Amino acid sequence: MRRCFVGRRLLSTRAPGTPFAHDYTHTPIAYTHRLPPRIEADTFKDHEDVQEPKDPEPQTPIGQLWSSLSNDPLQGKSPSDFFYSFPLTNFKKLKKRTERPRKVRMLASDFIDDSLYNPNYGYFPKQAEIFQTGKPFAYTDLEDTDEFVTRWKEQYDRYGKQPALQLWHTPVELFQPYYGEAIARYLLVNYKLNLYPYHDLIIYEIGGGNGTLMANVLDYIRTNQPEVYKKTRYKIVEISKNLSEKQKLQKSLAKHGSKVEIINKSIFDWNEFVPEPCFIVGLEVLDNLAHDMVKYDIYDGQPYQGYVVIDEHGDFHQFYTPELNQDTENFLGLRGLEFLSEPSDYMKTVKHPLNENRTLQQFRNFLTPFNNALSKTEFIPTRLTSLFQVLNEYFPEHQIVLSDFDSLPNASQGYNAPVVQTMLEDKAITTSTFMVEQGYFDIMFPTDFHTIRDLYINVCGKLVKTSKHAEFLEQWGDIEGTTTKTGENPMLTFYQNASFLHS
Ligand SMILES: C[S@@+](CC[C@H](N)C(=O)[O-])C[C@H]1O[C@@H](n2cnc3c(N)ncnc32)[C@H](O)[C@@H]1O
Repeated sequence: MRRCFVGRRLLSTRAPGTPFAHDYTHTPIAYTHRLPPRIEADTFKDHEDVQEPKDPEPQTPIGQLWSSLSNDPLQGKSPSDFFYSFPLTNFKKLKKRTERPRKVRMLASDFIDDSLYNPNYGYFPKQAEIFQTGKPFAYTDLEDTDEFVTRWKEQYDRYGKQPALQLWHTPVELFQPYYGEAIARYLLVNYKLNLYPYHDLIIYEIGGGNGTLMANVLDYIRTNQPEVYKKTRYKIVEISKNLSEKQKLQKSLAKHGSKVEIINKSIFDWNEFVPEPCFIVGLEVLDNLAHDMVKYDIYDGQPYQGYVVIDEHGDFHQFYTPELNQDTENFLGLRGLEFLSEPSDYMKTVKHPLNENRTLQQFRNFLTPFNNALSKTEFIPTRLTSLFQVLNEYFPEHQIVLSDFDSLPNASQGYNAPVVQTMLEDKAITTSTFMVEQGYFDIMFPTDFHTIRDLYINVCGKLVKTSKHAEFLEQWGDIEGTTTKTGENPMLTFYQNASFLHS
């Protein structure tokens, strides 16, 4: 223990005038910097209008001991002086940058968006590729799930031994065309039940990946419902330029060309009113939607909004202010507090910070005073709330089919926390925080389907259902065609931690 402290001191102490050395013993979540309320708390104003606030300082004996042994991450400044000395930025402004920013502060959601989607150094444009099989697996000829996995791994050769890019695996690709056909059956039945023959079948897919779902759905409708096919239109709204180009090169586009439109923009930039009934499909899109960070005062439960500061050395710091931004206020307001007494499946596995024992929280705060009497972090789906608002405003007659992970192993710290992961020489490496070098890590959130079902009903005012992945596929998928000789069915048994939200 002593050696650890001595080592820490050697690393940390810096005589005046000596060059800066990063303190690698601090992670960005070692300290929770808490800001006092600003003078005009009801308006979300910037630095200039703010009077000098007084900062609470953690000064328990343990806090003092800790301070004496380590570098001051705020370089002798008060939290407010440090925080407000950096200009506020956001994802939209950062999109124009070719290098990762320094000396800025931003909402956690903007940091996550920048890490994942910045066109110049973001994870999606630069690092990720979606795995695609050369040709569909013939499940009925395979012995069992083990043979399925062997055949699947053989296809990695097409990506080189150590692909420079990170490979994602989505059920659409692994189980094509069967997975897309299951979605097509669901769409067709609902379309014929409610809309045929008075309306066209219009499908908007958010985040089309390689374009495989589009091809499989249209192939299925053309073969099985030629009359409906004549009335079908398929539009992909895709944020990534690379992927939208790939979708345009989809082999089957030649067959379905006039039916398909590929729109290279983020769904959050959508501004066209669509009065016709339509289906909105989004598979594996929710997990990469940015979230915001919230902590709660452990004495009175007041929520605090999380920010990330990047200092002049490129080090990350987390700050919390009692002034909530609009999206956070919207989400917390729409969710209310009833959810605390009706635990979702997710809440049965991880305690919400507001449901934690107060005495325990206070004791933990005594031991780790740099938490500044704030709870553990909750990650709230602010972008998902905005997505529902976009659907409600621009697609008032829509029905939805969304699917994603309802839980994820190896998550980072916090409630509803993401898995932050990268591949290093064939090994998956996870971290305890999303505040890592932007663009090198996938940041994937689980979706609490129980909570988002209520959120969707609140925002869009429509009824909606949730189903577990296997339950949905058992009803709509071709079970015979995807079962191996021994009776195992990988399409049903893989992705057990995924669910659907559908209307
Ligand atoms: C994990 S991939 C899934 C692709 C495909 N749906 C599948 O299942 O194979 C996520 C997709 O969503 C897209 N995407 C992410 N955020 C988006 C946004 N805000 N608007 C439109 N597309 C988005 C990504 O570029 C990518 O195509």
